[in-house]
Formats: sequence, C-alpha cells, structure tokens
Amino acid sequence: MQKNEKIEKQIEDLIKELTLDEKIGMIHGAGLFRTEGVERLGIPPVKMSDGPMGVRNEFPDDSWVPVGNSDDYVTYLPSNSALASTWNRKLAYETGKVLGEEARGRGKDVILAPGINIKRSPLCGRNFEYMSEDPYLSGEMAVPVIEGVQTADVAACVKHFAINNQETERLWVDVKVSDRAAREIYFPAFKKAAQKSYSIMGAYNLYKGKHCCENKELLNEILRKEWGYDGMVVSDWGAVHKTKEAAESGLDIEMSVTYNFDEYCMAQPLKEAVEKGEVAEELLDEKVRNILRMMFRLHMIGEEKDQRKAGCYNISEHRQSVLETARESVVLLKNEDKKLPLSQKTNRILVIGDNANRIHSNGGGSAEIKALYEISPLLGIKKLLGGNTQIDFVQGYFADDMEAQNSDVNWQADSLENGGGSTGEARKASQELEEKRRALRAEAVEKAGQYETVILIGGQNHLQDLEGHDRPDMKLPYEQDKLIEEVLDVNPDTVVIMVSGSPVEMPWIDNAKTLVWQWYAGMEGGTALAEVLFGKANPSGRLPETFPKTHLDCSAHSVGEFPGGKTVEYTEDIFVGYRHYDTSDIEVLFPFGHGLSYTEFDLSELAVVLKMPGEKPQVRVSLKVSNTGKMDGKEVVQIYVGKPESDIKRPKKVLAAFDKLELPAGESRRIELDLDPDAFTYFDEETHMFKVEPGIYQIYAGKSVADICQVTSCEL
Ligand code: BGC
Repeated sequence: MQKNEKIEKQIEDLIKELTLDEKIGMIHGAGLFRTEGVERLGIPPVKMSDGPMGVRNEFPDDSWVPVGNSDDYVTYLPSNSALASTWNRKLAYETGKVLGEEARGRGKDVILAPGINIKRSPLCGRNFEYMSEDPYLSGEMAVPVIEGVQTADVAACVKHFAINNQETERLWVDVKVSDRAAREIYFPAFKKAAQKSYSIMGAYNLYKGKHCCENKELLNEILRKEWGYDGMVVSDWGAVHKTKEAAESGLDIEMSVTYNFDEYCMAQPLKEAVEKGEVAEELLDEKVRNILRMMFRLHMIGEEKDQRKAGCYNISEHRQSVLETARESVVLLKNEDKKLPLSQKTNRILVIGDNANRIHSNGGGSAEIKALYEISPLLGIKKLLGGNTQIDFVQGYFADDMEAQNSDVNWQADSLENGGGSTGEARKASQELEEKRRALRAEAVEKAGQYETVILIGGQNHLQDLEGHDRPDMKLPYEQDKLIEEVLDVNPDTVVIMVSGSPVEMPWIDNAKTLVWQWYAGMEGGTALAEVLFGKANPSGRLPETFPKTHLDCSAHSVGEFPGGKTVEYTEDIFVGYRHYDTSDIEVLFPFGHGLSYTEFDLSELAVVLKMPGEKPQVRVSLKVSNTGKMDGKEVVQIYVGKPESDIKRPKKVLAAFDKLELPAGESRRIELDLDPDAFTYFDEETHMFKVEPGIYQIYAGKSVADICQVTSCEL
C-alpha cells in the first residue's frame, strides 16, 4: 500500500506526544470490541465488530450479554461460502461495500471479515465462513470484498492469519506444514489480501511451535518484511499468551474475551516490562504507528476527518445487493430429465423439511447477527407463487437442540476453555426423540405420495456449521438420510434441496433426479432459492470446494491428520481439495467448479494469445463461449494449468483463471483471460524461492476441474 509522507510525519509527531500509558491504552482491548483513545490528542478508540455475514449485535464493553436494543438489526449477507460460489468478482465487491457501509453506519472502524482460511477438511466447523479450498479463488474473491468494505472508510480485517483450518483445540494446536504447502496453499490469498486490507487478524493456533499472534516468522518476517504490510494486526480474541513475545512480534492490538482488560498481556504486564527495560518502548511505537496509519486511511483523524463517510444500514439497495448475490450463489448440482425449473402454474405443492422453515442468521458463533429479517425457503416459495398455488408444509425431521444453542449467550466468555474448540460427537437420540422423528417421517412419506410436486428442503444448521466445533463426519444430521430415501421411494420426482454450510454424504444421490445446493445465503436466501426453483432466475453458482463422497476421501483424513492432537501435521502437503481428488483419481460426489444451468454452454477455440516467460510468466488465452441453449444465462469459464511431464511432485492441474459472463440464448462471445502467474510456479524448499520449471504446460478450459472441454499447451 502507498505511504503518504505527510501523514507519516504527522504520525511521528503524535507518537512523540504520547505517554507510555496512552500507548498501552491504544494497543489492547479496553472493551470487548474497542481500544482506548487519547482524547487530548484527538485520537479516537478503534471500534471493531464481527463479522462476515453482517454487523453483529451490540455488546456492552464488559459483558457478552448483548445490549438488546432494537437499533442493531442489520442486513444479513450471504456467507463467504455462498459468495465464493458466485465466482463473481463484481458481486464480491458489492457485498464488501454493503458490509462496509453497514459497519460504518453502525459507527464501526474495523469489520472483522472476510475469513479466508483454506478449507482443508470438509469437517471444519467454520468452513461456512471461509471461501474455498483453492488459494487462487479465495484470493480473487477476497480482494474485491476488501476493496468494497474500505470504500466506506471502514477497515476490512482479513482473518485468521494463518493456517487456521480447524476448530478442535484451536487455541493450542501446533500446525506443522511444509514451507511449500504454506507458500502454495495457505498463504497466497493472505498475501493478496495484505496488499489491500488495512487490518489483519492473527490466528489462535501455533505455527512452527509459536502462537500465530506472537510469531515473528509469520508476522515480522513474512507479513511485514516480505510482503511489505504496513497496516494494523489485531489478535484473535484471546490468542495472545506471552507479553514479551507479543510485544516483539508484528502484532499491534491484543483483544480477548475476558473483562480483565488491564491484565491483558499487552496492558499492565507490558507496561511493567517496558519500565523494567525488558521490552524497548520503540516496539510499542511501531504498533502505535501502524494503528495511527490505519486511522488516517480511514479518515478517523487528520485533515480529512470531516469528510469521513457516515455509512448507512438497512437500506433497500443493500437488500437488493444481497438478493443478487444470493441468486448467483445457488448451485444446481443435478437436474436429470430437466425436471427443473418447476412450473409457476403448479396447483399444489408439498414442501418437506425443517430447513424450509428455519432461520439461520442468529447462529454459527461470532458470525451470528440480528437480521432485520430472513426469508426462509418456505416464505420465498409462497411469496413467489402467490395465492393460486396451495403450498403445504410438513417438518419431516426434527432438529433437536436449537433452543439450547440460541440461549447460550455467554459462549464466547468461556471460549478459552478446553483448548478453545472440539470435535462434535454424533448424537445418540433418545427413544422419545426417535419416536418423534419416526412420526414426522411417516407423515411426510405418506403425504409425499399424494402430491405431484414435492420439494424436500433439508441439510444442516448452525449446530453443525459452528465456530468452536468440527463435525465428526459428513453425515446428514437428524436421520435425514432415511427421510430422503423414503420420500424418494414414494415420489421419485421429489426435488431435493440441501441448505448447508459444508458438504454432506448423500447415500441417496443416485435416486434423486434433482439436487439444488444453497449455502447460508443471507436475508433474501429464500427469495433467491424460489426464483431458481421456478425458473425466474437461471442458476449460475459453481462449487468453490469439492464435495467428496465421505470425509475419509479427503487428504487430511486419509493421512490421518485431522483433527490431530496437540500437533497436527499436514503431511498431505500441497494436495488439498481438488489437488488431491483430481491427482489421485478419487471419485467424488461433485467436483470443484461444478454447477449446472438451465441453458447449455459450449467452450471452443482455446488458444494461447500471449506468452512472456520469466520468473512470473505471463500467459493469456482466448476462447469462444457460446450459449447454445434456449435461456439467457451465465457461465463460469474456468482455466486450469498442469504440467504432465515434471520432475517435481505437483497436482494434475490448478485453477489459473476464471470469468463469469452473461450470454443471451443463442449468442457467442470471444473472451481473453490472463492466467495467474503462480499457476506456473512452485516453491522450491531448498532455495526458498518460487521457480518455474521449464517445459510444456497444458492449459485446460472447462466447466469444472473434472469437466474439461478444451486443451492447449504452452512452452515456457
Ligand atoms: C473468532 C473471531 C472473531 C472474534 C471476535 C473469535 O472467537 O475466532 O473470528 O472475530 O472471536 O468475536
């Protein structure tokens, strides 16, 4: 990022004025979501808030019991999984802008989003908050989100840096990962984000034996020196453990979940360490410098203070924007015999399933929010079809303990206990519960036989997709497999919809003719889903992660390293996500990049049109995209690069470019795409440098990693 000399001078002048106490006040939490300002010098506190799906409810400074007023209902945005599923950079920018404006409207300076950790295993409880298993897609979608947020004079806070890929033992797990995997898989999205983001959050876990927020290699060497990052680094809440280490690392602000603010490592203990001469005061100056620089960038201080944007929340433009994103995030996974879209003129419809009727915005951990409203799928369908269609609903399955989850308002205060996270257990249902489920199932199955049009909406909720917990397996909860199987038996045309933040096993998939996937998709999720089901919108979402048949096929599990113990060794190395399934020819449920449309697209005439070898090779391809079907639609063109003849172990192919384009029925367009130079490089652990192996590279154009339509090559 550009430094402004005049501002740097003003920062130095301010630092000269500050007392030790004032500096200390600026670098640790003085409330659960704020630091201390220095009023006499016009330095305000830094006010922060979660999170990625909207601005979280208001907390008092010293309690996790929400304030509870009516002024913190907000726009509920699609989760990052949903956003990544659009493969639409413009929507990512718009989503960021909505989030930034809402945060500013709520008076915040930093919004603790987006989360961009790599989805190493489908079982990580926070995957719904993250984008992808692929570093290129994660980075390409994260950067516009950050830019969008920051147009509103609010800092994005990219999290959690770094290699934070599980919840089990999240505070203490020491991640051992090769430098190559770190550089090729886990760092690239953060590196891109660091060029733009005014702030970054350090992770809970350890990397190479040191906690990320006290980690000199990570924060000082890589982030600050190598990547030139000069923004603010905040700790995750409760991620700092040692005063001297934190002081000496590139961390600027320590936050936590407890109310003993003066006892935080970077509060009184640090002050004492400075006074005793154990820690140099210059280290504090550097932290204050980074914080002040962020404040100037946000127009919190300085000559442009009066021009700071005010933001706004709950405006209709925001709702329109989240609807557009929700629409493009729906993924049509299966559509045999073109059963979908359904006719809007249907007389009678049976909707089955708890998720048809469920609200998700109020769960998930720190991503929970108070949504102004949330359109459930059932409401979405009813409001689209209107009064001429009889829509009947049966619950079909019982999602037991939602009440318990929502009443645990203080979970965050206790979140430092027990290693900070665990793996959930498959719950054994009581006899009473089993009886209840059997009755609900029997009711649904009986009715399903009586309706021509049946829509089953199941999946997961935030008891499975949840901060602080990983799932024990990929099985659908609440005996839904039985329900789906039995309903499909009596009505094989049943439209199956999964609402979920992470993939599930689908033992019934061969019997289902249709399958629609919806992530937690924001307040207009139900509207978007209904539009897709009834053909008002043409689906254009593509999977940003592989859906394996079972988690056991995932590389982290096949090497036996998830969730690990106190240490977890990423011995699968760079073979994460499709890099593993594709390279090892493992059959999956649905591959990375997959998603259908109601129209058909044809990719042709792939050719390399520009080639400039070098340390960062520049390669441009052109190709023709044709909408050969009968409906206007959007296609996501995906370009992958591979090197079949190689002396280096490498994935069969990696994503190197993508573009989403809208094409009217019957039209064609030629497009050009610049390939990601990183797709041609590998990290050489001996020289500690990225290198390009000379030879012939294959370039593939496809509709998913497994559906390649065109191949060409290029010699470097
Ligand atoms: C989470 C962060 C969140 C913070 C503040 C932590 O538990 O890991 O993502 O921003 O709490 O709520």
